[in-house]
Amino acid sequence: MYSTIIAEIKTGILKIIINRPEKLNALNETVLLELREAIMQLRQDQSLRGAIITGSGEKAFVAGADISEFLKADSSEGKKLAIKGQEVFALIEETTKPIIAAVNGFALGGGCELAMSCHFRYASDRAKFGQPEINLGIIPGYGGTQRLTRLIGKGRAMEMMMKGDMIDVNEAFRMGLVNKIVQHEQLMHEVEEILKFIISKPQPALAALIQAVNAAEHHGINGFEKEAEAFASAFSSEEMKEGVTAFLEKRKPNFK
Ligand code: COA
Repeated sequence: MYSTIIAEIKTGILKIIINRPEKLNALNETVLLELREAIMQLRQDQSLRGAIITGSGEKAFVAGADISEFLKADSSEGKKLAIKGQEVFALIEETTKPIIAAVNGFALGGGCELAMSCHFRYASDRAKFGQPEINLGIIPGYGGTQRLTRLIGKGRAMEMMMKGDMIDVNEAFRMGLVNKIVQHEQLMHEVEEILKFIISKPQPALAALIQAVNAAEHHGINGFEKEAEAFASAFSSEEMKEGVTAFLEKRKPNFK
């Protein structure tokens, strides 16, 4: 049994719901562990053909990595944190059964990175996206610097990560970050329908397709190592301490 996610199985589809609505489904260590376990179940259970990842509650898909776990970590812990997140998200991306993100609200920081590790994304008309790490004095560390750049292009990715503000779903759609915008109430139904359609296709061909498309991108594999190192170096800065403390104290940061 899981404590921070809900895993539901219906007609060969595994629905993974990140379930910490009171913290806007922020990804703490337990969520990452349980997410990894659920993805392993998807990979190993022959009767499962695909998965949907979504967030619980009305507001958020996932509002990021759990900021309250940051202050206790130093630079080397920071690197471990980045690698842990990167590994789980790589596991999702490399799973040879289709995994779709149903983005039902805020997809910020690690939430945007989680959505990007899925094979593609449908989003509610209320969804908002962003990589706000810069406002905390850090950078994306769960693959975001790599996957965002590949998905929307270097210039737009740079701007989004440098500004650190949120974009609405229409802009996310224009950029290619989401495949389709769906009326909020219809989101789960639409995602289930598209996934049912996709898993009616021949499984070996789907698996081969996922591997081949992923291979198109993997020439930059070192980028993930670079990201974890850069994340670690920002993680030990005074600015990070101020940014994270300010968030937790619900005030504006005073960066030098
Ligand atoms: N980590 C830890 N806790 C988080 C969180 C995160 N990434 N995002 C939200 N929460 C918590 C809040 O601290 C708050 O907890 P509390 O009720 O115990 O104080 C709760 O979730 C609700 O969030 P709140 O900020 O009150 O909601 P809001 O509607 O006013 O604002 C956001 C929503 C998404 C704009 C705001 O929560 C936010 O900026 N979150 C952080 C986003 C971020 O920087 N993510 C990247 C992390 S690397």
